[in-house]
Amino acid sequence: MQAHWMRVASLADFEQTDRRVVSAGDRPVLLLRHGERLYAVDNRCPHMGFPLEKGTVKDCILTCHWHHARFDLASGGTFDQWADDVRAYPLEVRGDEVWINIAPPPDERERLLRRLQQGLERNIRLVLAKSAIALLDRGEEPSAAFRTALAFGTSYRLAGWGQGLTMLTCFMNMMPHLAPEDRPRALFQGLDAVAMEVSGAAPRFKIAALPPAPHAESERQPLLTLKRWFRQFIEVRDDEGAERCVVSAVRAGATSAEMADMLFAAITDHRYIQIGHPADFANKALEALDQAGWDPATGAEQELAESVLASLVRGIADASRMEESNAWRNPVDLVAILEGAFEELPAALEAGAAARESGLRWQGRVELAQQLLSDNPYANVAALLAALREGATAAQVAGATAYAAALRIARFHTANEFGDWDTVLHTFTFANAMHRAVLRVTSAELDRMAPDATAEERALPLLRGVFDAAMSVYLDRFLNTPPARIPQPKANGAAPEALLAELPALLDRQQQVNQAGELVAQYLASAGGTEVEHAAPLLAALGRGLLREDRDFHTVQAIEAAMSQYQLLAGTPEAAHVLIGAARYLAAHAPTVRAAGQTFQIAERLHRGEAIYEE
Ligand code: FES
Repeated sequence: MQAHWMRVASLADFEQTDRRVVSAGDRPVLLLRHGERLYAVDNRCPHMGFPLEKGTVKDCILTCHWHHARFDLASGGTFDQWADDVRAYPLEVRGDEVWINIAPPPDERERLLRRLQQGLERNIRLVLAKSAIALLDRGEEPSAAFRTALAFGTSYRLAGWGQGLTMLTCFMNMMPHLAPEDRPRALFQGLDAVAMEVSGAAPRFKIAALPPAPHAESERQPLLTLKRWFRQFIEVRDDEGAERCVVSAVRAGATSAEMADMLFAAITDHRYIQIGHPADFANKALEALDQAGWDPATGAEQELAESVLASLVRGIADASRMEESNAWRNPVDLVAILEGAFEELPAALEAGAAARESGLRWQGRVELAQQLLSDNPYANVAALLAALREGATAAQVAGATAYAAALRIARFHTANEFGDWDTVLHTFTFANAMHRAVLRVTSAELDRMAPDATAEERALPLLRGVFDAAMSVYLDRFLNTPPARIPQPKANGAAPEALLAELPALLDRQQQVNQAGELVAQYLASAGGTEVEHAAPLLAALGRGLLREDRDFHTVQAIEAAMSQYQLLAGTPEAAHVLIGAARYLAAHAPTVRAAGQTFQIAERLHRGEAIYEE
């Protein structure tokens, strides 16, 4: 460690002055004489970089002169949490010489995570931005910061899982599609969303799992029983009883697919609850646990899983139910149409079993989606049932429904009221959540909550949600009247990169909706198709466009759900329509004031050591 000690001054240097700035490694260090002692601290104020040499020392407290943050001179610890601790260096006087130790602090990762936690607790945007930048710059994966925020967000908000955690998870899901330089900004935006939502909220007191039974209960399948109880309790809006079932199921070793089965069975017991939010939140919470590394087999992140999944329950129990809404009852009783269809679902799946098992792949996605855009709810429901009878899997039917919902956005007419963008968005994110949930449940090898069912039969309760999504697509039909034209350009020799470079300028101007859709279509035509190798730069550009703006919950959802659907449609013409819809939605909601971006830029410049105070 001797290598890290360096001689920086002599005692004689302090005969005429009490302070001196020296260069140590890559940063300036302030040496300060106070009383009989010498101290060494980083000369850059950790808040916004002001030179601490210009500060005042009194009673061993150093006060910065820009925003008056105060620091203990000996330890560097601050009394103003928004400012962060300043780094203090070990100092030795050897004869007449002053030496400091510039070895990097050994626990920098832990310090940054602690700092991030403080930023979340106190809702300090600049601290969150600095932590995100510093962690990723050290080569850390974003997952550690993500887990910290997940645990925080699900512990301190009485209402449980909400928009903040949804956005954080959306940004995490988008991360692989983003340019590396945009990833810290995505992490920051998600952390900031959680901190803002939790700030000032009442804390949540968690409910423990049921205690172990004192006698063996060989006749009872605990997960199946918990699932039955959970649905009963949600039915009567008893969120505490329902939460205990969820925590107990996780404690009993339920897998992600089994928890999806349990949660979505209750979510789809009623029609399109809370315009799709509980379904979207449940899907995001399960995706969050995928990202966080929850593994029931090893017990990894078990406590986090309990906290995350329990935080969903209140939102499910309290949700409005569309059986109670006029639009779903009059002039056509859509609920009655759906309930009639649900009775036919088991037979439809059974009829299609032979075709599915024969390996024949159902090819009707585009036709089914086109049918779902019609104004005949009876025919739409009949088409969904027919697809299942013809051998479509539950996931294929869910995918066609999500594609139809994406087309509503791609064909949304700008003459509609602005708020109606939200209507088509809600349908799309709900349809995407149901599609992802069906994939999760049907792709699992085992589901002890449906022990005798085939993979497709396991999706039966969830298919009710898929049919709800199709009904919501039907209800949104007036927002495509007349439908906006979907651009169908051909390759015209334009360089794809040059086209993409035009996107930021387009998003600098209001309401460039159709232009943004056309740009995306032209880009994909020029790049050669919608395969990942062609579309990846477009996804990164859309992500960058989103991150430049102040966060808007629905826009974040729109872009993330489009990326999610794109992954499942890559290489098909339908993938282009999904991305056209995403670009149109983003363009409709840009530009914003971009205030969060300014905070992030300050943090970035501070991280690079730039002198902001000089401007
Ligand atoms: S308090 Fe030092 S820069 Fe703000």
